[in-house]
Amino acid sequence: MSLQDKIRQLTELRSQARLGGGEKRIDKQHQQGKFTARERIDLLLDEGSFEEYDMFVTHRCHDFGLESQQFLGDGVVTGRGTIDGRVVYVFSQDFTVLGGSLSETFAMKICKVMDQAMKMGAPLIGLNDSGGARIQEGVNSLAGYAEIFYRNIQASGVIPQISAVFGPCAGGAVYSPALTDIIIMSEQTSYMFVTGPKVTKTVTGEDITIENLGGADIHTKKSGVAHFKAADEKEGILLIRKVLEYLPQNNLEEPIITECDDPIERIDDELNEIVPEDPNKPYDVKDVIHRIVDYEEFLEMQRLYAKNIVTGFAKFGGMPCGIVANQPSFLAGVLDIDASRKAARFVRLCDAFNIPIVTLVDVPGFLPGSFQEYGGIIIHGAKLLFAYGEATVPKITVTLRKAYGGAHDVMGSKQLRADLNYAWPGAEIAVMGAKGAIEVLEGRKLSQVENQEEREAMHQKLEEEYREKFANPYVAARYGYIDDVIEPRNTRWRIARALRSLATKKEVGPPKKHGNMPL
Ligand code: HXC
Repeated sequence: MSLQDKIRQLTELRSQARLGGGEKRIDKQHQQGKFTARERIDLLLDEGSFEEYDMFVTHRCHDFGLESQQFLGDGVVTGRGTIDGRVVYVFSQDFTVLGGSLSETFAMKICKVMDQAMKMGAPLIGLNDSGGARIQEGVNSLAGYAEIFYRNIQASGVIPQISAVFGPCAGGAVYSPALTDIIIMSEQTSYMFVTGPKVTKTVTGEDITIENLGGADIHTKKSGVAHFKAADEKEGILLIRKVLEYLPQNNLEEPIITECDDPIERIDDELNEIVPEDPNKPYDVKDVIHRIVDYEEFLEMQRLYAKNIVTGFAKFGGMPCGIVANQPSFLAGVLDIDASRKAARFVRLCDAFNIPIVTLVDVPGFLPGSFQEYGGIIIHGAKLLFAYGEATVPKITVTLRKAYGGAHDVMGSKQLRADLNYAWPGAEIAVMGAKGAIEVLEGRKLSQVENQEEREAMHQKLEEEYREKFANPYVAARYGYIDDVIEPRNTRWRIARALRSLATKKEVGPPKKHGNMPL
Protein backbone atom coordinates (compact mmCIF):
# COMPACT_ATOMS: atom_id res chain seq x y z
CA MET A 1 0.00 0.00 0.00
CA SER A 2 1.47 3.39 -0.97
CA LEU A 3 1.65 6.19 1.53
CA GLN A 4 -1.13 7.97 -0.37
CA ASP A 5 -3.30 4.85 -0.01
CA LYS A 6 -2.48 4.73 3.69
CA ILE A 7 -3.50 8.37 4.09
CA ARG A 8 -6.73 7.59 2.25
CA GLN A 9 -7.28 4.63 4.57
CA LEU A 10 -6.82 6.89 7.59
CA THR A 11 -9.37 9.34 6.23
CA GLU A 12 -11.83 6.51 5.64
CA LEU A 13 -11.33 5.11 9.12
CA ARG A 14 -11.91 8.54 10.60
CA SER A 15 -15.14 8.97 8.62
CA GLN A 16 -16.26 5.55 9.76
CA ALA A 17 -15.54 6.40 13.41
CA ARG A 18 -17.40 9.67 13.06
CA LEU A 19 -20.51 7.81 11.97
CA GLY A 20 -20.71 6.00 15.33
CA GLY A 21 -23.52 3.44 15.17
CA GLY A 22 -24.51 4.49 11.63
CA GLU A 23 -26.85 6.91 9.94
CA LYS A 24 -30.04 5.10 10.88
CA ARG A 25 -29.29 5.33 14.55
CA ILE A 26 -28.14 8.94 14.21
CA ASP A 27 -31.51 9.73 12.59
CA LYS A 28 -33.30 8.02 15.49
CA GLN A 29 -31.27 10.09 17.95
CA HIS A 30 -32.29 13.29 16.14
CA GLN A 31 -35.94 12.21 15.96
CA GLN A 32 -35.90 11.94 19.74
CA GLY A 33 -34.77 15.56 19.95
CA LYS A 34 -31.24 14.56 20.93
CA PHE A 35 -27.87 15.55 19.51
CA THR A 36 -25.19 12.97 18.80
CA ALA A 37 -22.12 12.65 21.01
CA ARG A 38 -19.99 14.56 18.50
CA GLU A 39 -22.55 17.31 17.89
CA ARG A 40 -22.61 17.90 21.65
CA ILE A 41 -18.84 18.24 21.76
CA ASP A 42 -18.93 20.69 18.83
CA LEU A 43 -21.47 22.82 20.68
CA LEU A 44 -19.51 22.68 23.92
CA LEU A 45 -15.98 23.49 22.88
CA ASP A 46 -14.38 26.49 21.21
CA GLU A 47 -14.53 26.03 17.46
CA GLY A 48 -11.76 23.84 16.11
CA SER A 49 -10.25 23.19 19.54
CA PHE A 50 -11.22 19.53 19.94
CA GLU A 51 -8.49 16.94 19.75
CA GLU A 52 -9.90 13.45 19.88
CA TYR A 53 -8.17 10.50 21.55
CA ASP A 54 -8.68 6.79 20.97
CA MET A 55 -10.79 7.03 17.86
CA PHE A 56 -9.71 3.56 16.77
CA VAL A 57 -10.35 1.72 20.02
CA THR A 58 -12.68 -1.27 19.73
CA HIS A 59 -14.07 -3.64 22.34
CA ARG A 60 -12.54 -7.05 23.10
CA CYS A 61 -15.67 -9.05 23.81
CA HIS A 62 -16.34 -12.33 22.01
CA ASP A 63 -19.58 -13.30 23.71
CA PHE A 64 -23.21 -13.02 22.63
CA GLY A 65 -22.18 -12.34 19.01
CA LEU A 66 -20.56 -9.06 19.96
CA GLU A 67 -17.41 -10.04 18.05
CA SER A 68 -19.24 -9.21 14.82
CA GLN A 69 -20.39 -5.82 16.10
CA GLN A 70 -17.32 -3.63 16.14
CA PHE A 71 -17.56 0.16 16.11
CA LEU A 72 -14.51 2.41 15.96
CA GLY A 73 -14.33 4.38 19.17
CA ASP A 74 -16.54 1.83 20.98
CA GLY A 75 -19.38 4.17 21.92
CA VAL A 76 -17.67 7.07 23.61
CA VAL A 77 -15.93 10.12 22.14
CA THR A 78 -13.10 11.41 24.33
CA GLY A 79 -10.49 14.11 24.14
CA ARG A 80 -9.36 17.60 24.97
CA GLY A 81 -10.41 21.05 23.88
CA THR A 82 -10.93 24.56 25.15
CA ILE A 83 -13.81 26.60 26.52
CA ASP A 84 -13.21 30.34 26.33
CA GLY A 85 -9.58 29.49 25.70
CA ARG A 86 -9.20 27.34 28.84
CA VAL A 87 -8.30 23.66 28.53
CA VAL A 88 -10.94 21.08 29.47
CA TYR A 89 -11.12 17.32 29.09
CA VAL A 90 -14.31 15.74 27.87
CA PHE A 91 -16.05 12.46 27.25
CA SER A 92 -19.32 12.13 25.40
CA GLN A 93 -21.22 8.86 25.39
CA ASP A 94 -22.59 7.80 22.01
CA PHE A 95 -26.00 6.18 22.33
CA THR A 96 -25.94 5.16 18.66
CA VAL A 97 -23.29 2.54 19.46
CA LEU A 98 -24.81 -0.32 21.45
CA GLY A 99 -26.94 2.13 23.37
CA GLY A 100 -23.86 3.96 24.68
CA SER A 101 -23.34 0.98 26.97
CA LEU A 102 -20.11 0.88 28.92
CA SER A 103 -17.55 -1.79 28.06
CA GLU A 104 -14.07 -2.38 29.45
CA THR A 105 -12.44 -0.36 26.64
CA PHE A 106 -15.13 2.36 26.81
CA ALA A 107 -14.21 2.79 30.50
CA MET A 108 -10.47 2.80 29.69
CA LYS A 109 -11.03 5.68 27.29
CA ILE A 110 -12.86 7.69 29.94
CA CYS A 111 -10.19 6.89 32.52
CA LYS A 112 -7.49 8.14 30.15
CA VAL A 113 -9.05 11.61 29.89
CA MET A 114 -9.72 11.64 33.62
CA ASP A 115 -6.05 10.88 34.32
CA GLN A 116 -4.91 13.58 31.91
CA ALA A 117 -7.32 16.12 33.40
CA MET A 118 -5.85 15.39 36.83
CA LYS A 119 -2.24 15.61 35.66
CA MET A 120 -2.86 18.81 33.77
CA GLY A 121 -5.12 20.34 36.43
CA ALA A 122 -8.01 20.99 34.07
CA PRO A 123 -11.80 20.52 34.44
CA LEU A 124 -13.47 17.29 33.36
CA ILE A 125 -16.80 17.36 31.57
CA GLY A 126 -18.87 14.22 31.09
CA LEU A 127 -21.80 14.10 28.66
CA ASN A 128 -23.88 11.08 29.63
CA ASP A 129 -26.27 9.17 27.37
CA SER A 130 -26.00 5.46 28.04
CA GLY A 131 -27.89 2.24 28.68
CA GLY A 132 -25.44 1.47 31.50
CA ALA A 133 -23.13 -1.49 31.87
CA ARG A 134 -22.68 -3.37 28.57
CA ILE A 135 -24.50 -6.52 29.54
CA GLN A 136 -22.42 -8.78 27.28
CA GLU A 137 -19.20 -7.77 29.05
CA GLY A 138 -20.36 -8.72 32.52
CA VAL A 139 -17.91 -8.03 35.33
CA ASN A 140 -15.45 -6.24 33.04
CA SER A 141 -18.05 -3.59 32.58
CA LEU A 142 -18.65 -3.34 36.33
CA ALA A 143 -14.89 -3.08 36.88
CA GLY A 144 -14.79 -0.31 34.29
CA TYR A 145 -17.40 1.69 36.20
CA ALA A 146 -15.54 1.22 39.46
CA GLU A 147 -12.33 2.51 37.83
CA ILE A 148 -14.24 5.64 36.83
CA PHE A 149 -15.81 6.05 40.28
CA TYR A 150 -12.39 5.79 41.92
CA ARG A 151 -11.03 8.52 39.66
CA ASN A 152 -14.10 10.71 40.34
CA ILE A 153 -13.34 10.40 44.04
CA GLN A 154 -9.63 11.18 43.66
CA ALA A 155 -10.43 14.16 41.44
CA SER A 156 -13.06 15.55 43.82
CA GLY A 157 -11.89 18.88 45.18
CA VAL A 158 -8.87 18.87 42.83
CA ILE A 159 -10.42 19.65 39.44
CA PRO A 160 -13.98 20.76 38.73
CA GLN A 161 -16.06 17.85 37.43
CA ILE A 162 -19.27 18.64 35.59
CA SER A 163 -21.81 16.09 34.37
CA ALA A 164 -24.55 16.64 31.86
CA VAL A 165 -27.18 13.96 31.51
CA PHE A 166 -28.73 14.04 28.03
CA GLY A 167 -30.28 10.58 27.88
CA PRO A 168 -30.62 7.49 30.01
CA CYS A 169 -28.37 7.16 33.03
CA ALA A 170 -29.35 4.05 34.91
CA GLY A 171 -28.15 1.55 37.47
CA GLY A 172 -24.75 2.08 39.04
CA ALA A 173 -23.97 4.44 36.17
CA VAL A 174 -25.64 7.24 38.09
CA TYR A 175 -22.89 7.17 40.66
CA SER A 176 -20.26 8.72 38.45
CA PRO A 177 -22.33 11.90 37.92
CA ALA A 178 -23.30 11.78 41.60
CA LEU A 179 -19.63 11.93 42.55
CA THR A 180 -19.05 15.04 40.44
CA ASP A 181 -19.59 18.66 41.44
CA ILE A 182 -22.47 19.66 39.22
CA ILE A 183 -25.20 17.73 37.40
CA ILE A 184 -27.23 19.24 34.57
CA MET A 185 -30.23 17.38 33.15
CA SER A 186 -32.14 18.08 29.94
CA GLU A 187 -35.93 18.23 30.15
CA GLN A 188 -37.93 15.31 28.70
CA THR A 189 -34.90 13.49 27.26
CA SER A 190 -32.89 12.52 30.33
CA TYR A 191 -33.44 10.37 33.36
CA MET A 192 -31.41 9.01 36.24
CA PHE A 193 -32.25 6.16 38.59
CA VAL A 194 -30.56 3.31 40.40
CA THR A 195 -33.43 0.97 39.55
CA GLY A 196 -35.71 1.46 36.54
CA PRO A 197 -39.53 1.36 36.45
CA LYS A 198 -39.75 -2.32 35.47
CA VAL A 199 -37.65 -3.63 38.33
CA THR A 200 -39.32 -1.17 40.68
CA LYS A 201 -42.69 -2.67 39.74
CA THR A 202 -41.44 -6.24 40.22
CA VAL A 203 -39.80 -5.62 43.56
CA THR A 204 -42.11 -3.14 45.24
CA GLY A 205 -45.29 -3.28 43.14
CA GLU A 206 -45.05 0.46 42.52
CA ASP A 207 -46.28 1.49 39.07
CA ILE A 208 -44.39 4.57 37.97
CA THR A 209 -43.36 6.23 34.71
CA ILE A 210 -39.76 6.81 33.78
CA GLU A 211 -40.25 10.60 34.05
CA ASN A 212 -41.81 10.38 37.50
CA LEU A 213 -39.10 8.05 38.72
CA GLY A 214 -36.04 9.90 37.52
CA GLY A 215 -36.76 12.69 35.05
CA ALA A 216 -35.21 16.15 35.17
CA ASP A 217 -38.21 17.57 37.05
CA ILE A 218 -37.93 15.02 39.82
CA HIS A 219 -34.20 15.47 40.29
CA THR A 220 -34.26 19.24 40.24
CA LYS A 221 -37.37 19.68 42.44
CA LYS A 222 -37.75 16.65 44.67
CA SER A 223 -34.53 14.74 45.16
CA GLY A 224 -32.07 17.60 44.67
CA VAL A 225 -29.73 15.23 42.80
CA ALA A 226 -29.38 17.58 39.81
CA HIS A 227 -28.35 21.23 40.04
CA PHE A 228 -29.77 22.52 36.78
CA LYS A 229 -32.67 21.61 34.51
CA ALA A 230 -32.08 22.72 30.94
CA ALA A 231 -34.97 23.18 28.49
CA ASP A 232 -32.91 21.34 25.88
CA GLU A 233 -29.38 20.13 25.24
CA LYS A 234 -28.24 23.45 23.77
CA GLU A 235 -29.22 25.23 26.98
CA GLY A 236 -27.55 22.47 29.00
CA ILE A 237 -24.29 22.97 27.13
CA LEU A 238 -24.44 26.74 27.56
CA LEU A 239 -24.89 26.14 31.28
CA ILE A 240 -21.70 24.08 31.41
CA ARG A 241 -19.81 26.94 29.78
CA LYS A 242 -21.42 29.46 32.14
CA VAL A 243 -20.62 27.49 35.30
CA LEU A 244 -16.97 27.26 34.28
CA GLU A 245 -16.72 31.08 34.26
CA TYR A 246 -16.90 30.98 38.05
CA LEU A 247 -14.59 28.03 38.66
CA PRO A 248 -10.80 27.94 38.52
CA GLN A 249 -8.98 25.25 36.53
CA ASN A 250 -8.10 23.40 39.72
CA ASN A 251 -7.88 23.73 43.50
CA LEU A 252 -4.43 25.38 43.37
CA GLU A 253 -5.66 28.25 41.24
CA GLU A 254 -7.94 31.18 41.96
CA PRO A 255 -11.13 31.81 39.97
CA ILE A 256 -10.53 34.19 37.07
CA ILE A 257 -11.24 37.86 37.73
CA THR A 258 -12.88 39.44 34.70
CA GLU A 259 -13.10 43.05 33.55
CA CYS A 260 -16.09 44.82 35.04
CA ASP A 261 -17.50 48.22 34.19
CA ASP A 262 -20.40 47.97 36.63
CA PRO A 263 -18.97 50.33 39.30
CA ILE A 264 -18.39 48.65 42.65
CA GLU A 265 -19.26 51.97 44.36
CA ARG A 266 -22.74 51.80 42.86
CA ILE A 267 -25.19 52.87 45.57
CA ASP A 268 -28.74 51.56 45.40
CA ASP A 269 -31.17 53.70 47.40
CA GLU A 270 -34.02 51.25 46.87
CA LEU A 271 -32.19 48.71 49.01
CA ASN A 272 -32.99 50.91 51.99
CA GLU A 273 -36.66 50.11 51.43
CA ILE A 274 -36.50 46.52 50.28
CA VAL A 275 -37.07 44.80 53.64
CA PRO A 276 -40.62 45.31 54.96
CA GLU A 277 -40.94 46.92 58.39
CA ASP A 278 -43.18 44.10 59.57
CA PRO A 279 -40.80 41.25 60.46
CA ASN A 280 -43.39 38.71 59.37
CA LYS A 281 -43.75 40.09 55.86
CA PRO A 282 -41.81 38.27 53.16
CA TYR A 283 -39.66 39.71 50.37
CA ASP A 284 -37.65 38.06 47.65
CA VAL A 285 -33.99 37.86 48.63
CA LYS A 286 -33.11 37.42 44.96
CA ASP A 287 -34.09 41.08 44.47
CA VAL A 288 -31.37 41.95 46.96
CA ILE A 289 -28.86 39.66 45.22
CA HIS A 290 -29.58 41.09 41.78
CA ARG A 291 -29.18 44.64 43.05
CA ILE A 292 -25.79 44.10 44.67
CA VAL A 293 -23.92 41.87 42.17
CA ASP A 294 -22.27 42.81 38.86
CA TYR A 295 -24.77 43.45 36.05
CA GLU A 296 -27.55 41.80 38.12
CA GLU A 297 -26.13 38.45 36.98
CA PHE A 298 -26.75 35.55 39.32
CA LEU A 299 -26.29 31.94 38.26
CA GLU A 300 -28.59 30.13 40.64
CA MET A 301 -27.90 26.50 41.50
CA GLN A 302 -30.69 24.12 42.54
CA ARG A 303 -33.25 26.85 41.86
CA LEU A 304 -36.24 24.55 42.26
CA TYR A 305 -35.06 22.52 45.25
CA ALA A 306 -35.25 23.68 48.89
CA LYS A 307 -36.33 27.14 47.78
CA ASN A 308 -36.07 28.41 51.35
CA ILE A 309 -32.37 28.82 50.72
CA VAL A 310 -30.81 30.34 47.63
CA THR A 311 -27.37 29.30 46.36
CA GLY A 312 -25.45 30.35 43.30
CA PHE A 313 -22.57 32.22 41.70
CA ALA A 314 -22.16 35.91 41.04
CA LYS A 315 -19.38 38.47 40.77
CA PHE A 316 -18.43 41.65 42.61
CA GLY A 317 -16.16 43.91 40.56
CA GLY A 318 -15.36 40.91 38.35
CA MET A 319 -14.43 38.68 41.33
CA PRO A 320 -16.40 35.40 41.38
CA CYS A 321 -18.06 34.40 44.64
CA GLY A 322 -20.65 31.97 45.90
CA ILE A 323 -23.80 33.40 47.46
CA VAL A 324 -25.86 31.64 50.12
CA ALA A 325 -29.04 33.44 51.15
CA ASN A 326 -32.08 32.55 53.21
CA GLN A 327 -35.26 33.15 51.20
CA PRO A 328 -37.97 34.85 53.31
CA SER A 329 -40.51 34.42 50.50
CA PHE A 330 -40.47 30.62 50.83
CA LEU A 331 -41.28 28.98 54.18
CA ALA A 332 -40.12 32.27 55.74
CA GLY A 333 -36.54 31.25 54.94
CA VAL A 334 -36.50 28.60 57.65
CA LEU A 335 -33.65 26.09 57.72
CA ASP A 336 -34.80 22.50 57.23
CA ILE A 337 -33.17 19.25 56.18
CA ASP A 338 -33.16 19.94 52.45
CA ALA A 339 -32.00 23.54 52.80
CA SER A 340 -29.17 22.49 55.12
CA ARG A 341 -27.94 19.80 52.73
CA LYS A 342 -28.23 22.05 49.72
CA ALA A 343 -26.32 24.92 51.28
CA ALA A 344 -23.69 22.68 52.91
CA ARG A 345 -22.79 21.10 49.60
CA PHE A 346 -22.57 24.49 47.94
CA VAL A 347 -20.35 25.94 50.68
CA ARG A 348 -18.00 22.97 50.28
CA LEU A 349 -17.91 23.39 46.50
CA CYS A 350 -16.89 27.03 46.95
CA ASP A 351 -14.31 26.20 49.58
CA ALA A 352 -12.77 23.40 47.51
CA PHE A 353 -12.23 25.77 44.59
CA ASN A 354 -11.14 28.95 46.38
CA ILE A 355 -14.38 30.80 45.74
CA PRO A 356 -15.22 33.34 48.48
CA ILE A 357 -18.59 32.93 50.17
CA VAL A 358 -21.04 35.79 50.68
CA THR A 359 -23.89 34.89 53.04
CA LEU A 360 -27.10 36.92 53.27
CA VAL A 361 -28.98 36.06 56.44
CA ASP A 362 -32.67 36.34 57.14
CA VAL A 363 -33.59 33.22 59.01
CA PRO A 364 -36.23 32.63 61.70
CA GLY A 365 -34.53 29.41 62.88
CA PHE A 366 -34.68 25.68 62.24
CA LEU A 367 -38.01 24.15 61.24
CA PRO A 368 -39.53 22.40 64.28
CA GLY A 369 -41.50 19.15 64.28
CA SER A 370 -41.31 15.37 64.31
CA PHE A 371 -40.97 15.15 60.52
CA GLN A 372 -37.74 17.10 60.68
CA GLU A 373 -36.44 15.42 63.83
CA TYR A 374 -37.17 11.90 62.53
CA GLY A 375 -35.49 12.84 59.26
CA GLY A 376 -32.35 13.76 61.14
CA ILE A 377 -32.34 17.56 61.06
CA ILE A 378 -29.70 17.37 63.80
CA ILE A 379 -27.25 15.67 61.47
CA HIS A 380 -28.24 17.64 58.38
CA GLY A 381 -28.11 20.99 60.14
CA ALA A 382 -24.72 19.96 61.48
CA LYS A 383 -23.54 19.47 57.89
CA LEU A 384 -24.06 23.16 57.21
CA LEU A 385 -22.38 24.09 60.46
CA PHE A 386 -19.45 21.85 59.58
CA ALA A 387 -19.18 23.21 56.05
CA TYR A 388 -19.08 26.85 57.19
CA GLY A 389 -16.69 26.15 60.06
CA GLU A 390 -14.36 24.15 57.85
CA ALA A 391 -14.30 26.62 54.94
CA THR A 392 -11.11 28.67 54.80
CA VAL A 393 -12.01 30.85 51.81
CA PRO A 394 -12.91 34.49 52.48
CA LYS A 395 -16.30 34.57 54.19
CA ILE A 396 -18.48 37.66 54.35
CA THR A 397 -21.84 37.62 56.10
CA VAL A 398 -24.54 40.28 55.92
CA THR A 399 -27.52 39.94 58.23
CA LEU A 400 -30.43 41.57 56.46
CA ARG A 401 -33.14 40.96 59.02
CA LYS A 402 -33.71 37.94 61.28
CA ALA A 403 -30.91 35.79 62.65
CA TYR A 404 -32.37 33.71 65.41
CA GLY A 405 -31.06 30.91 67.53
CA GLY A 406 -28.90 28.10 66.17
CA ALA A 407 -29.62 29.29 62.66
CA HIS A 408 -27.75 32.52 63.43
CA ASP A 409 -24.70 30.53 64.50
CA VAL A 410 -24.87 28.31 61.43
CA MET A 411 -25.26 30.99 58.78
CA GLY A 412 -21.68 32.21 58.58
CA SER A 413 -21.44 33.66 62.08
CA LYS A 414 -18.31 35.31 63.42
CA GLN A 415 -17.64 32.32 65.65
CA LEU A 416 -17.54 30.03 62.61
CA ARG A 417 -14.73 32.31 61.48
CA ALA A 418 -16.47 34.57 59.02
CA ASP A 419 -13.94 37.28 58.18
CA LEU A 420 -16.36 40.16 58.03
CA ASN A 421 -19.85 40.29 59.48
CA TYR A 422 -22.12 43.15 58.59
CA ALA A 423 -25.72 43.80 59.57
CA TRP A 424 -28.39 46.08 58.21
CA PRO A 425 -29.89 48.44 60.82
CA GLY A 426 -33.17 46.48 60.94
CA ALA A 427 -31.39 43.22 61.78
CA GLU A 428 -32.74 41.19 64.70
CA ILE A 429 -30.02 39.00 66.15
CA ALA A 430 -31.20 37.09 69.20
CA VAL A 431 -31.85 33.67 70.70
CA MET A 432 -35.41 33.65 69.41
CA GLY A 433 -38.11 35.87 67.95
CA ALA A 434 -39.98 38.32 70.17
CA LYS A 435 -43.27 36.41 70.17
CA GLY A 436 -41.73 33.09 71.22
CA ALA A 437 -39.43 34.73 73.76
CA ILE A 438 -42.30 36.53 75.50
CA GLU A 439 -44.35 33.33 75.64
CA VAL A 440 -41.46 31.53 77.35
CA LEU A 441 -40.41 34.35 79.66
CA GLU A 442 -43.73 35.95 80.51
CA GLY A 443 -46.23 33.14 79.81
CA ARG A 444 -47.31 32.68 83.41
CA LYS A 445 -47.75 36.41 83.99
CA LEU A 446 -49.76 36.76 80.78
CA SER A 447 -52.03 33.81 81.56
CA GLN A 448 -53.09 35.52 84.75
CA VAL A 449 -54.60 38.40 82.78
CA GLU A 450 -58.18 37.33 82.24
CA ASN A 451 -59.34 39.96 79.78
CA GLN A 452 -58.24 38.87 76.30
CA GLU A 453 -57.85 42.39 74.94
CA GLU A 454 -55.73 43.42 77.89
CA ARG A 455 -53.65 40.25 77.57
CA GLU A 456 -52.98 40.86 73.87
CA ALA A 457 -52.05 44.50 74.49
CA MET A 458 -49.65 43.44 77.22
CA HIS A 459 -48.15 40.77 74.93
CA GLN A 460 -47.69 43.41 72.25
CA LYS A 461 -46.00 45.80 74.64
CA LEU A 462 -43.65 43.14 76.00
CA GLU A 463 -42.78 42.06 72.47
CA GLU A 464 -41.91 45.63 71.54
CA GLU A 465 -39.74 46.00 74.62
CA TYR A 466 -37.98 42.74 73.81
CA ARG A 467 -37.40 43.75 70.22
CA GLU A 468 -36.06 47.10 71.32
CA LYS A 469 -33.71 45.54 73.82
CA PHE A 470 -32.55 42.32 72.18
CA ALA A 471 -33.75 42.06 68.59
CA ASN A 472 -31.41 44.56 66.97
CA PRO A 473 -27.91 44.46 65.54
CA TYR A 474 -26.31 46.57 68.26
CA VAL A 475 -26.15 43.97 71.01
CA ALA A 476 -24.10 41.73 68.70
CA ALA A 477 -22.15 44.75 67.45
CA ARG A 478 -21.27 45.74 71.04
CA TYR A 479 -19.61 42.36 71.49
CA GLY A 480 -17.81 42.62 68.14
CA TYR A 481 -19.80 39.72 66.67
CA ILE A 482 -20.90 42.18 64.02
CA ASP A 483 -18.04 44.24 62.58
CA ASP A 484 -20.23 47.04 61.32
CA VAL A 485 -23.85 48.03 60.89
CA ILE A 486 -24.18 49.24 57.31
CA GLU A 487 -26.76 51.10 55.29
CA PRO A 488 -28.46 48.67 52.93
CA ARG A 489 -27.82 50.92 49.93
CA ASN A 490 -24.06 50.62 50.45
CA THR A 491 -24.05 46.83 50.51
CA ARG A 492 -22.53 46.29 47.07
CA TRP A 493 -19.47 48.35 47.62
CA ARG A 494 -18.96 47.17 51.19
CA ILE A 495 -18.93 43.54 49.98
CA ALA A 496 -16.81 44.29 46.91
CA ARG A 497 -14.28 46.20 48.99
CA ALA A 498 -14.22 43.46 51.61
CA LEU A 499 -13.64 40.80 48.94
CA ARG A 500 -10.67 42.74 47.62
CA SER A 501 -9.20 43.12 51.07
CA LEU A 502 -9.61 39.40 51.75
CA ALA A 503 -8.02 38.24 48.50
CA THR A 504 -4.73 37.51 50.29
CA LYS A 505 -6.36 35.53 53.10
CA LYS A 506 -4.40 32.50 54.28
CA GLU A 507 -5.92 30.16 56.83
CA VAL A 508 -4.77 26.63 57.50
CA GLY A 509 -6.60 24.20 59.74
CA PRO A 510 -4.95 21.67 62.06
CA PRO A 511 -3.24 18.69 60.38
CA LYS A 512 -5.55 15.70 59.97
CA LYS A 513 -6.39 13.02 57.45
CA HIS A 514 -9.88 14.42 57.07
CA GLY A 515 -12.65 15.50 59.39
CA ASN A 516 -15.55 13.21 60.15
CA MET A 517 -18.30 15.30 58.63
CA PRO A 518 -21.80 14.35 59.87
CA LEU A 519 -22.88 12.63 56.64
C1 HXC B 1 -25.82 -3.69 25.87
C2 HXC B 1 -27.47 -2.24 25.28
C3 HXC B 1 -27.61 -1.85 26.62
C4 HXC B 1 -26.78 -2.44 27.58
C5 HXC B 1 -29.01 -0.75 25.43
N1 HXC B 1 -28.36 -1.56 24.58
N2 HXC B 1 -28.58 -0.91 26.68
N3 HXC B 1 -26.58 -3.17 24.92
N4 HXC B 1 -25.90 -3.36 27.15
N5 HXC B 1 -26.85 -2.09 28.85
C6 HXC B 1 -28.54 -1.67 23.15
C7 HXC B 1 -29.88 -2.28 22.79
O1 HXC B 1 -29.79 -3.67 22.77
C8 HXC B 1 -30.10 -1.70 21.41
O2 HXC B 1 -29.33 -2.44 20.49
C9 HXC B 1 -29.48 -0.34 21.48
O3 HXC B 1 -28.60 -0.39 22.60
C10 HXC B 1 -30.49 0.76 21.72
O4 HXC B 1 -31.30 0.37 22.80
P1 HXC B 1 -32.89 0.40 22.73
O5 HXC B 1 -33.38 -0.42 23.83
O6 HXC B 1 -33.36 0.08 21.35
O7 HXC B 1 -33.17 1.94 22.98
P2 HXC B 1 -34.38 2.61 23.75
O8 HXC B 1 -35.68 2.00 23.32
O9 HXC B 1 -34.20 4.08 23.58
O10 HXC B 1 -34.18 2.24 25.29
C11 HXC B 1 -33.06 2.72 26.00
C12 HXC B 1 -32.93 2.02 27.37
C13 HXC B 1 -32.93 0.47 27.14
C14 HXC B 1 -34.12 2.39 28.24
C15 HXC B 1 -31.67 2.50 28.01
O11 HXC B 1 -31.97 0.17 26.13
C16 HXC B 1 -32.56 -0.26 28.38
O12 HXC B 1 -33.41 -0.47 29.24
N6 HXC B 1 -31.31 -0.75 28.42
C17 HXC B 1 -30.86 -1.49 29.58
C18 HXC B 1 -30.66 -0.60 30.76
C19 HXC B 1 -30.02 -1.34 31.90
O13 HXC B 1 -30.72 -2.08 32.62
N7 HXC B 1 -28.71 -1.25 31.99
C20 HXC B 1 -27.94 -1.98 32.92
C21 HXC B 1 -27.99 -1.15 34.19
S1 HXC B 1 -27.10 -1.88 35.45
P3 HXC B 1 -29.85 -2.74 18.99
O14 HXC B 1 -28.74 -3.51 18.40
O15 HXC B 1 -31.12 -3.50 19.14
O16 HXC B 1 -30.06 -1.40 18.39
C22 HXC B 1 -25.69 -1.11 35.38
C23 HXC B 1 -24.74 -1.61 36.37
C24 HXC B 1 -23.64 -0.64 36.55
O17 HXC B 1 -25.47 -0.23 34.63
C25 HXC B 1 -23.05 -0.91 37.88
C26 HXC B 1 -21.94 0.00 38.20
C27 HXC B 1 -21.63 -0.11 39.64
